[in-house]
Amino acid sequence: DIRIYVEEGPGQRRELEAPTDMGLSLMELLKANDYPIQATCGGMALCATCHVEVLAGPPLPEPSDDEWAMLDTLPVLHETSRLSCQIRLAPGLDGLVVRVADPA
Ligand code: FES
Repeated sequence: DIRIYVEEGPGQRRELEAPTDMGLSLMELLKANDYPIQATCGGMALCATCHVEVLAGPPLPEPSDDEWAMLDTLPVLHETSRLSCQIRLAPGLDGLVVRVADPA
């Protein structure tokens, strides 16, 4: 398992343990831990309600064109914004720090 950290406030990080052998996305992990992510499209990069801001950690694979297109529709976009449904939990992501973005 790997550890993912979710920043919940200034200096406040919650540690989540994440399996990497189940093909789960970061969106599914966050939902399972009761973060307010609607994921209305079910993880198809079509709704942007799974928006997170990446704060630190290992480099992630580049967003796909579909992910970019959807990120572009957000009213507030951060330099490191990502759709958490497009981030597959994998061993290389150990130590990732994210913040769940405010609902659009
Ligand atoms: Fe819809 Fe990620 S769940 S874009």
